[in-house]
Amino acid sequence: MTVVEIAAPGGPEQLRTATRPVPQPGEGEVLIRVSAAGVNRPDIMQRKGLYPPPPGASDVPGMEVAGAIAALGPKVTGLAIGDPVTALLSGGGYAEYAIAAAPLCLPVPTGLSRVEAAALPETCFTVWTNLFERGGLKEGETVLIHGGTSGIGTTAIQLAKVWGAKVFATAGTHAKARVCEDLGAVRGIDYRTEDFVEIIKLATDGRGADVILDIVAGTYVQRNIEAAAVEGRIVVIAVQGGVRAEIKMNELMVKRLTLTGSTLRPRTIAQKAAVAEGVRRNVWPLLESRRVRPIIHATFPLAQASEAHRLMETSNHIGKIVLTV
Ligand SMILES: NC(=O)c1ccc[n+]([C@@H]2O[C@H](COP(=O)([O-])OP(=O)(O)OC[C@H]3O[C@@H](n4cnc5c(N)ncnc54)[C@H](OP(=O)(O)O)[C@@H]3O)[C@@H](O)[C@H]2O)c1
Repeated sequence: MTVVEIAAPGGPEQLRTATRPVPQPGEGEVLIRVSAAGVNRPDIMQRKGLYPPPPGASDVPGMEVAGAIAALGPKVTGLAIGDPVTALLSGGGYAEYAIAAAPLCLPVPTGLSRVEAAALPETCFTVWTNLFERGGLKEGETVLIHGGTSGIGTTAIQLAKVWGAKVFATAGTHAKARVCEDLGAVRGIDYRTEDFVEIIKLATDGRGADVILDIVAGTYVQRNIEAAAVEGRIVVIAVQGGVRAEIKMNELMVKRLTLTGSTLRPRTIAQKAAVAEGVRRNVWPLLESRRVRPIIHATFPLAQASEAHRLMETSNHIGKIVLTV
């Protein structure tokens, strides 16, 4: 089969097509004939050598695919050859065939294309587990989503809005801030020209945001604390602004805040399967009823994965970038 592998840690030019044997599914696994594979920011970190795949995972990048089941490993129940599925992977998605754990396969939502389906697992799993499970976002609450036009952000805005939350979102340009509003935010904030702490405070009569989903960290952590409401929950899911933060602990105490975070990839299959169940029950019906939709910015043929990475690194995209096979 054709795969895209990382020749050596470095730039997008290090992504090269290669021929490898089709992998065989082990116990509890399935083989998927891939139609489309989602591109995620962590793939770029992996390409640069900064985010190694967990032990036992394929060294081929790609954490989500959609396609049809081509083979079943031992002890797989509830799935059949030919089933159209989308799956969260621990790696190996940039390929014609990929191995997935059976519990991390979900049916392609009715009415969605394979390209759209491939754009779902990483953002839906991440947003569900962080915004709703960890952040405990409830109807009527105020939420601030950083990186509102990212793959993660476009999903988070829509889900939070459908949940009945009042959504604020940051993005790097005025135009992107308006896109956040089109997706359901009451106010998009251009973080290059506007101060999100000030805007949230003004818009909530000084109360602040109940939940903050943060992909920046660094200096944002203290500003998130300032923008948070009493009993607020701040969930950090990436550190694009740096891993270290200096914070005022007294403000954390006075507001009784929860500062937490998580990553998805190193969790056990059982832990991810529990997230998959939550996604299937809570997010899939919203996709099938078209109340939430994956935002696809661009598609590239698998062999042009390096172009897809170049585009993502410009941050000019809005939503997801998907490889077609
Ligand atoms: N913890 C987890 O489980 C998990 C899982 C998946 C992804 N992630 C993380 O989630 C983030 C989004 O992933 P993705 O695949 O959706 O990537 P993506 O589409 O490339 O999004 C990255 C976004 O970061 C925004 N950004 C950068 N600096 C910012 C700042 N100071 N304030 C607000 N936005 C900022 C960029 O927008 P502008 O150009 O407009 O700034 C861009 O939209 C990545 O950092 C990724 O590592 C975490």
